[in-house]
Amino acid sequence: MKIEGSKILITGGAGFIGSHIVELLVHSGANVRVYDNFSSGDEANLKSVKNDVEIIRGDILDRDNLLKASSGVDVICHQAAQLEIIRCIETPLEDLRSNTEGTINIFETAKCLNIPKVIYASSACVYGQAQYVPQDESHPTVPNWPYGISKLATEHYARLYYDYYQIETIGLRYSIVYGSREWYGRVLTAFLRRALDGLKPVIWGGYQERDFVYVEDVAKINALCIESEKLGCDNFNVSTGISTQIRELAQLVCDLFNLGEPVYEEICEGEISQMVAGRIRLPAELKQMVLDNSKAKATLNWKPHVTLQEGIISEMNWLRSNQERWAVMRY
Ligand SMILES: NC(=O)c1ccc[n+]([C@@H]2O[C@H](COP(=O)([O-])OP(=O)(O)OC[C@H]3O[C@@H](n4cnc5c(N)ncnc54)[C@H](O)[C@@H]3O)[C@@H](O)[C@H]2O)c1
Repeated sequence: MKIEGSKILITGGAGFIGSHIVELLVHSGANVRVYDNFSSGDEANLKSVKNDVEIIRGDILDRDNLLKASSGVDVICHQAAQLEIIRCIETPLEDLRSNTEGTINIFETAKCLNIPKVIYASSACVYGQAQYVPQDESHPTVPNWPYGISKLATEHYARLYYDYYQIETIGLRYSIVYGSREWYGRVLTAFLRRALDGLKPVIWGGYQERDFVYVEDVAKINALCIESEKLGCDNFNVSTGISTQIRELAQLVCDLFNLGEPVYEEICEGEISQMVAGRIRLPAELKQMVLDNSKAKATLNWKPHVTLQEGIISEMNWLRSNQERWAVMRY
């Protein structure tokens, strides 16, 4: 489908990733409608395109409102979700409702309005602990957090909506997305927040391996999925395939911002940090998350362009001009 002139509904469009997709699609000539309940989203994320998009305040759990908001659209790009890991462990039912029931509502809306395609955000968390890396799309799916279960369930529903109703459903399994407008909470944001104050990164363990993909590259793959024909029902890893140990990440931040060497704090999973106020080390932490992106490269002709070094500098530049955005920690 040609993006120019098409009508696209983006749920979660006021969020971190959603707002980058909105910007890209607006610049490509689409008519974009954002549907967001602003639970974590922020109008400031849409500042650059606010006169070019329609913004509807609504919840994906409100089926009537969602149906109304989706009238006349050609494709839905579904990014809305509850993604705080601590919250999903404490309230798994709430997580299930937002992420699974909410996504079923999106598929139902597509069915009722004959919307032929839904692109939706899944997650690397569907895999759970890596049995090998890089993890391809055939890697076993054994989520270690309720969040991963709620996302995995949506992938199974997606398949049924394709089988029963021929709605194209494309699930994007993002690795760790980072970049401007990221919400404060994860490891890189903690490192950057401290770096802003001239403080060294604090490492817990540090041997965890992660795959960091820049948010503009993620927006691009969403646009490619909208454009590509005959994708049917499929899932794609959205990642760089590059493993970065947390201690390497910390050293990179130190090198980029002249901080010397990182510091180490001995705390266990689930414990609260003494050195980084309010931060808790996640329980059941993933040891490795490195995703093979060959399928997206081969099928969609997509590849990530932004290096980790470039992406970190870009996120830091954004943070310097938007310090108030990370004034409040999420948990
Ligand atoms: N950020 C990552 O690294 C990452 C990794 C894997 C998957 N994902 C997935 O990508 C998507 C976007 O994540 P993000 O990082 O931009 O998060 P975000 O919190 O910045 O964006 C989520 C948006 O959805 C909105 N929202 C939440 N619940 C809603 C509801 N019930 N109804 C309507 N709107 C609602 C929020 O207000 C927010 O604008 C999510 O589906 C998330 O699970 C993100």
